[in-house]
Amino acid sequence: MKEKIAKIKETSIKEIEECKNQKELNDLKVKYLGKKGELTLLLRGMGALTPEERPIIGSLVNKVRDEINNLVEEKEVKFKKEELQRKLETENIDITEPSKKINLGSLHPITQVIQEVEETFLGMGYEIADGPEVEKAIYNFDKLNTPPDHPARDIQDTFYITDNIILRSQTSSVQARVMEEKKPPIKIICPGAVYRSDSVDATHSPVFHQIEGLVIDKNISMTDLKGTLEMFAKKCLGENTKIRFRPHHFPFTEPSAEADVSCFVCGGKGCKVCKGEGWIELLGCGMVHPNVLKNCGIDPEEYSGFAFGFGVERIAMAKFGIEDMRLLFENDVRFLKQF
Ligand code: DAH
Repeated sequence: MKEKIAKIKETSIKEIEECKNQKELNDLKVKYLGKKGELTLLLRGMGALTPEERPIIGSLVNKVRDEINNLVEEKEVKFKKEELQRKLETENIDITEPSKKINLGSLHPITQVIQEVEETFLGMGYEIADGPEVEKAIYNFDKLNTPPDHPARDIQDTFYITDNIILRSQTSSVQARVMEEKKPPIKIICPGAVYRSDSVDATHSPVFHQIEGLVIDKNISMTDLKGTLEMFAKKCLGENTKIRFRPHHFPFTEPSAEADVSCFVCGGKGCKVCKGEGWIELLGCGMVHPNVLKNCGIDPEEYSGFAFGFGVERIAMAKFGIEDMRLLFENDVRFLKQF
């Protein structure tokens, strides 16, 4: 019996040492330590031994089993290390290899202008307001002192969903919504798309973008309006930009004005961008008409305010030297990449 055990020990050590991979090692594990393994069979045959021999042989078998077990474990660790080493050598990543180029694109010029204007006004304590593009005519016109028979409705002819629901022709509609919802003080700007039934040409599009501004508080005057617009023009168009007001008419403001800025390309001398004028028409503005305040639930005896609105495309075109508005909507990547 003892010789048998010694023989098993000797051959198992040799076989384990010589074994070359995990698969072979697994087979050896089964062969020596498994349920039907050689050592287990030996233990089963212990019944034939004398009671004195049994504990001696039993502990001998256990000792050998432990030794084999240890050898197998050592070998397993060795195989794992080798496997890892092999992986590290063959699966390493070449960090010097040039990566695939991802085309990130750039922000659309319209988006750029909107973001820049938003930042400027956020810095002056304004909030950004939003309103629906599919709008009730009442917000787009009636509440803004433009009743159904008013000629200003013809100038801003738009797309009708029903008699009372339209695609908004101006972001001024958001003024009425905000005034109805909030109590003064109100300080908002609202950028967004607007619609008019215009044919497409170099300076017209049935869809374009506006940014509306509205301030309502006690004692707001025309000087606040002018100071605000001057600040905005200097921030967005350059420190040396000057601003001038020309009298105008809008139904929702009284008095109303159109504001021009000194040409930010030639500085006022006259060039292609300002068409030799030295000035570029920037926006419409004025003091909010008392009727508008009343229509929106604000007491004109207590509060006053100013409003302004301008087209984003016009600014983007002047700023980036774009001569045809259609380019802004065709979205040809070769064009957009330039900004
Ligand atoms: N909504 C006007 C337009 O589309 C622009 C405008 C003029 C907005 C005067 C205003 C304003 O808020 O006070 O032509």
